[in-house]
Amino acid sequence: MLQGKKFIVTGAASGIGKAIVKLGLQEGAEVIGCDLDAQRLEALKAEADSARLFTCKVDVSQYSEVEAFFAYIAQEHADTGGLVNNAGIYLGRNLLDYTPEEIDKVLDINIKGYVYLSQGFGRMLLAQKRQGVIVNMSSVSGQEGSSDAVYGLSKAAVLGLTKSCAMNFAPYVRVNAVAPTMTSTPMMAHIPAWRQQEYLEHQLTPEPLLAEDIANTVAFLLSGQSRAYTGATFDINNGCYLR
Ligand SMILES: NC(=O)c1ccc[n+]([C@@H]2O[C@H](COP(=O)([O-])OP(=O)(O)OC[C@H]3O[C@@H](n4cnc5c(N)ncnc54)[C@H](O)[C@@H]3O)[C@@H](O)[C@H]2O)c1
Repeated sequence: MLQGKKFIVTGAASGIGKAIVKLGLQEGAEVIGCDLDAQRLEALKAEADSARLFTCKVDVSQYSEVEAFFAYIAQEHADTGGLVNNAGIYLGRNLLDYTPEEIDKVLDINIKGYVYLSQGFGRMLLAQKRQGVIVNMSSVSGQEGSSDAVYGLSKAAVLGLTKSCAMNFAPYVRVNAVAPTMTSTPMMAHIPAWRQQEYLEHQLTPEPLLAEDIANTVAFLLSGQSRAYTGATFDINNGCYLR
């Protein structure tokens, strides 16, 4: 499905991002994996052991770093056709306990990071009148609400960004979102136990979601097989919340 494709994944060094990188490589794609964590990127490189994986340390919340990243992409990987906006943080806090610095941090990474990367990618492809795809990582908590208000609002914002970019970048770049429920990754450790239980109770099928489940849907959205979709949100939630 992804043979011959080249795409960027943010938050590539862990969890869902890492599963997307591995699936892309397995399917014959070239992947540019970005993350804030240089050490884990090195570990990913060693683990994947592939000449089709390129890694880059980027803090998606810093405009200047994203700008420099796209200058590198234009120079070295001008044929890149996909972007997976996946990097994100979850602090698992009640709004009452948030400091102003924490609010900024979550919004800067989970919203501004997606805006910066989308802008850079959209500008590049539209200037060349090239077809491309963006997949944005939202969450069930952007649809149903989150016990962590700042995280929940950031994931709701991603759904709005997805629709707006689908309009702004048409007809060249298709833009879709995925909205997973709780998924087994290091991030899960921050979800309070009572909330984990609530999520599981809502599922119609009991198996916990794995990062690989999310990667499968993202791969479909990166491929030509999803050419009829743009501006759409894909629920990946074991029937957690039916709408
Ligand atoms: N795990 C879940 O239950 C779940 C459910 C729904 C949606 N999501 C979303 O999926 C995405 C991936 O989450 P995960 O569960 O794999 O988490 P994770 O913590 O395992 O991985 C997140 C990665 O993002 C990187 N990152 C953090 N800040 C960054 C920054 N400023 N710049 C670049 N990289 C940065 C981290 O270093 C890490 O490698 C997130 O957007 C998350 O909100 C997760």
